[in-house]
Amino acid sequence: MKIAVIGTGYVGLVTGAVLAHLGNNVICVDQDQAKLRLIASGKSPIYEPGLEEILQRTITEGLLTVSNSIQDAVKVSEIVFIAVGTPPAADGSPDMSAVKTVASEIAKGIHHFTVIVNKSTVPVGSGDLVANIITELGVKRTQFEVVSNPEFLREGSAVRDTMEPDRIVIGASSPEAAQPLIDLYRPLDRPILITDVNSAELIKYASNSFLAMKISFINAMSILCEECGANIADVSKGIGSDSRIGPAFLQAGLGWGGSCFPKDVTGLLATAKQMGYHFELLQSVWDINQQQTHRFLDRLSKELGGFKEKTIGLLGLAFKPNTDDIRDAKSLTIIDRIFKEGGSIRAYDPAASQHVLKLYSQLDIKTSPYAVAEGADALILVTEWNEFKQMDLARLAKVMKNPLLFDGRRVYDPELAQRAGFRYFTIGLKGSP
Ligand code: UGA
Repeated sequence: MKIAVIGTGYVGLVTGAVLAHLGNNVICVDQDQAKLRLIASGKSPIYEPGLEEILQRTITEGLLTVSNSIQDAVKVSEIVFIAVGTPPAADGSPDMSAVKTVASEIAKGIHHFTVIVNKSTVPVGSGDLVANIITELGVKRTQFEVVSNPEFLREGSAVRDTMEPDRIVIGASSPEAAQPLIDLYRPLDRPILITDVNSAELIKYASNSFLAMKISFINAMSILCEECGANIADVSKGIGSDSRIGPAFLQAGLGWGGSCFPKDVTGLLATAKQMGYHFELLQSVWDINQQQTHRFLDRLSKELGGFKEKTIGLLGLAFKPNTDDIRDAKSLTIIDRIFKEGGSIRAYDPAASQHVLKLYSQLDIKTSPYAVAEGADALILVTEWNEFKQMDLARLAKVMKNPLLFDGRRVYDPELAQRAGFRYFTIGLKGSP
């Protein structure tokens, strides 16, 4: 099939690359010429395992090309994916300006029947919004369909998630409208759920909000564990073993961040508000997440007698492992507070350091965990990268001024950490320091 994908962010580029990998002719469209040049040379502008290999192969085979003209790409395509950003506006609702601009450009390029797919995370009602923009520009309603096809890929495993999704959701106004996408996704051989457009749009927000709810729930339980002397790891395993609950997304820690959960929880809250429903449960999911990192920092501050003139080492800066993404990363909350309260910070991250340095030039970036620990008053494990899991803890403790380890992701065995010479604190476990 001939496909255009508008937007080469995480969702757009991975979708375009995987569809080209399946043998389709894909044009990836973006306004950013430098990014397009990079992609055309087979390089990925984002850190994503497996993506560059697919880009190189599909570009060499001529299956994936790039363009900065939406109209040109639409003219030659049967299916057009809209995969541009919908960042939160001031009131928390998604900013739809990029989607609207793209819809207008698509309208100018339509020359034959075209299926337009909302792949961006867009609020309920966006299918109609896009259709109205296109008809207002003079395109007959019989010349196009607008379908919702939300994306469920995770950063760090985006290629695999796109190739092997748990389900493919297609929201369409009729079975005929859904058919081109059913045909497109058939080679993946995954379960396909066909719904109306509004339901598909809600499924995306509900999925991310539900996952955020699971994490906030386990983080709230971690507070109870700390108070009563229970272990959140066991509680998590115990409840996750119930097949009705499931073990995924029950890892207690500093809370959820990234480019999706925060944006989509506030997005769903804004949608609910517009509809006159005060979604108290979801508001609590948000509030618990905001408090979680600060509770952890309160504890550390108490232990150190405040952050003033203290040197804190951070292990990990990315919002989660295997990505260089720092959007809404918990590291930023931590850095912000420690700097405000007069402390200094050294940090190491395998991929994200330079991005954080752009925001905080006073950050002392190191090239290894051991350099971070040297002379520090405390270490915080912020992101659970694999390379932090097997560190020589005794060596780390030895070079510190004050061997205090605050494990924000529950990576270490408390006994081993203590044996290595640390005073060790982690979330959801009573005891030290
Ligand atoms: C999330 C969803 O998992 C994807 O299905 C969705 O497509 C994507 O958002 C999106 O809307 O684009 P992502 O943001 O890449 O994916 O990251 P996740 O792996 O879901 O992690 C989100 C946050 O939750 C991270 O900060 C992570 O550290 C935290 N987390 C996750 C926990 O604190 N505990 C857990 O048990 C799991």
